[in-house]
Amino acid sequence: MTSQLLYFTDEQAPALRLAAACGLPAAAVERHRFPDDELRLRLPLAAGEAPADTLVLYRSLDRPNEKLVELLLVAGEARRLGARRLLLVAPYLAYMRQDIAFQPGEVVSQKVVGQFLAGLFDAVITVDPHLHRIATLDEAIPHGDALSLSGAPLLAGLIAARVENPLLVGPDAESRQWIEAAAATHGFDYGVCSKVRHGDRDVEIALPALAVRGRAVVLLDDVASTGHTLARAARLLGAAGAASVDVAVTHALFADDALQLLGEAGVREVWSSDCIAHPSNAVSVAPLLAEALGRLGVGAG
Ligand code: R5P
Repeated sequence: MTSQLLYFTDEQAPALRLAAACGLPAAAVERHRFPDDELRLRLPLAAGEAPADTLVLYRSLDRPNEKLVELLLVAGEARRLGARRLLLVAPYLAYMRQDIAFQPGEVVSQKVVGQFLAGLFDAVITVDPHLHRIATLDEAIPHGDALSLSGAPLLAGLIAARVENPLLVGPDAESRQWIEAAAATHGFDYGVCSKVRHGDRDVEIALPALAVRGRAVVLLDDVASTGHTLARAARLLGAAGAASVDVAVTHALFADDALQLLGEAGVREVWSSDCIAHPSNAVSVAPLLAEALGRLGVGAG
């Protein structure tokens, strides 16, 4: 049985880190955009060559709309040419936030995209998917091999190495799971804020009852998008006397001026995992992903 990792060139660095970590040969999918925005893709095959039996496609689904079409085209063609097993490694999984319809007819994108991926791939591996009201990833991607990993232990290790005696703070109730796990492993002091979201860029945050004055605070969360959640929390922490406020996130979406917003709110350093390629990347999830692929019988594990 042969295996190969496929990637797109804009994600070459993290894809090659994964290929090295799991001992898989890797090759790029060729991509051309026509003037009318359609895509021409080409699998890396010589004339008459069949694809590997198992293909692992690396595609992180930030800025996802066009990437979902890429997945459709690559998976469809790979199957057509005889690939037996298709695995998607999507370190960031898009469209997971909309998990119920708040108004009649509102598209529950988590279900639709989950079904779409389940139809294309035999297994999906992702990191810290944004699951609000469901407990497990296979409720969103309905097949047995939907693996959800967490980047928080890697970020906790980074924080322990870079900040002396940090006070770990989660910006909202959902972050409690990562904060508590990190605190348990490293013995960090910690607290979790409460948050009410009024709109995309409008959040209200209340700090927990904590002695913040003089502490080196690190805000830890799964994702920063507009940055308003972290910026609001950072401002409150600064006002409460924190000596410094750093930020660590699994997914560095950082839409528009998010990083500038964090700087203006007094954030000192921003660290992220390489789930989404970004200048703030400070830890690689490749070993984590390689171990998960190994559980699925792919690569050295
Ligand atoms: C929310 O539940 C998430 O954990 C993040 O706190 C949120 O998505 C961040 O969004 P933004 O950066 O736009 O405030």
